[in-house]
Amino acid sequence: MTPIERGVSPIGEKKAISPLFFKGTVIQGFGRGSKQLGIPTANLPVEEYESILNDIPIGVYYGWANVHGVNDNKIYKMAMSIGWNPFYKNTKKTIEIHLINKFEQDFYGHQLNAIAVGFIRPMCDFSSLDELIKAINDDIEYAQQQLDQQPQYQNHEFFKHCFNSGAQQQQEELDTSQHSHTVLNLTKP
Ligand SMILES: Cc1cc2nc3c(=O)[nH]c(=O)nc-3n(C[C@H](O)[C@H](O)[C@H](O)COP(=O)(O)O)c2cc1C
Repeated sequence: MTPIERGVSPIGEKKAISPLFFKGTVIQGFGRGSKQLGIPTANLPVEEYESILNDIPIGVYYGWANVHGVNDNKIYKMAMSIGWNPFYKNTKKTIEIHLINKFEQDFYGHQLNAIAVGFIRPMCDFSSLDELIKAINDDIEYAQQQLDQQPQYQNHEFFKHCFNSGAQQQQEELDTSQHSHTVLNLTKP
């Protein structure tokens, strides 16, 4: 396997991205994350939201996330993948978030907020499951290192926002004191 260069986005920049805000209801994935990989992921719905996801480069990102109703809405470091999981030859794009912590429960039906603050690498295919697992564990380590040096968004007001009820297929603007950000609202009714 050729070494993966981390932190380089498809446009070749090695720096933090302009943050991407996601909120959505956790749905069931294929169930391989925990069982086959030992790396559980929370999946967000994408099917009805392809139009708003088209502009987001496929790949692996790092950032912060919380799940409503879990550990007092505590905010965790996370690594996330957006894409077709070429190793599994998925035909459907997925958004999967791994919260960097050990949990006893799953998050199905819970509402999750996440802010991606940096790009790790493009999605890759691998010749074995062990290589995929190693790459994801390396991503998690890289995410932790980067986030230790980049705590700015950890306590962002976005994590305190309540969710709107009902599916909304629009992009919302979240106003902060200085910036407005695009929020990808993937909330299921
Ligand atoms: C940080 C991270 C990086 C990932 N990178 C890849 C990748 O490069 N190639 C790939 O096929 N899948 C990648 N995945 C997705 C895993 O294959 C996926 O989590 C696994 O198939 C479980 O999916 P499931 O929960 O839908 O069963 C990544 C997942 C995470 C959390």
